[in-house]
Amino acid sequence: MDNIDTELLRTLPKAELHLHLEGTLEPELMFTLAERNGISLPYDSVEALRNAYDFGNLQDFLNLYYQGAAVLQTEQDFYDLTLAYLERCAQDGVVHVEPFFDPQTHTARAITMATQFRGILRALADGKERWGISSCLILSFLRHLSEEDAVVTLQQALPWREHFVAVGLDSSEKGNPPEKFQRVFDQVRALGLKTVAHAGEEGPPDYIVQALDLLKVVRIDHGVRCAEDPALVQRLIDQQIPLTVCPLSNTRLKVFSDMSEHNIMQLLDRGMRVTINSDDPAYFGGYLLDNYCAVRDALGMTKAQAVQLARNSLISSFLDNDSLSLHLARLDQLAQVH
Ligand code: ADE
Ligand code: ZN
Repeated sequence: MDNIDTELLRTLPKAELHLHLEGTLEPELMFTLAERNGISLPYDSVEALRNAYDFGNLQDFLNLYYQGAAVLQTEQDFYDLTLAYLERCAQDGVVHVEPFFDPQTHTARAITMATQFRGILRALADGKERWGISSCLILSFLRHLSEEDAVVTLQQALPWREHFVAVGLDSSEKGNPPEKFQRVFDQVRALGLKTVAHAGEEGPPDYIVQALDLLKVVRIDHGVRCAEDPALVQRLIDQQIPLTVCPLSNTRLKVFSDMSEHNIMQLLDRGMRVTINSDDPAYFGGYLLDNYCAVRDALGMTKAQAVQLARNSLISSFLDNDSLSLHLARLDQLAQVH
């Protein structure tokens, strides 16, 4: 079967379910914000910064990612960051986004929760108006910090309770298992919020099991190491648990040595509900459409497979039923016409 072409891929209505707003900070914007805020960066130029994006593992990346995020200081900075991301989404045919932000990265620098929420929410509203892109925001805890720190963060976010739909768990996975956050995730769910968690990116398959059983997550972020545990693979298929896979991230962070080694299409063909996402596109060399194309080019992707991936992204989202039906109808239409 033929591979799907890029223009049809672009046209398919798609949702992005695994995206860190701080990971959309392009080097050019980082320099602009650094200058605007009187911060000096340890790089001479945009090129020098880009050249530093050569990661051996997740921690290598996180060190630069947290350093870069320090240029975000004002409400306008968070607005500019978020709006630039949405503009790229519009170009890629993304109709709905569920971005993460890491409030602790900013409150630790005395940037208030209000500053962060105000800038991000204003941009999400403008993105809806300009490009029709809907959104559900996800607040994410940093797992290298203590559970107590997450509890305080949740308290600080309570005035904004109506403005985010779920809580996630990200940062350094190894040595920071989901069980460390069981009590605070109980509090999160008691507030009526959904839960998701990064698991099985660098960490073992057991972290995926913990995320499901202890944190009661409705999606697994990454999850590609599930393949090492056949019983877990079967469970994920049986329960249709969505996996938000990030192909370019996985190759840039050496989770897979090369895209040709990636297991996403194998998992898809086994009936797992996998989705394609960009994670931290400014650091990993591509936004959502680039990720679809990279998988297609290395592993092959028929039109039927691409439609299934787009469908998975929509049905795994937190979209309301009416909007979901509209997007699925459009997807079905495109699936038949070409
Ligand atoms: N924070 C931003 N990107 C991340 C990733 N891929 N894994 C864990 N934490 C992250
Ligand atoms: Zn991530």
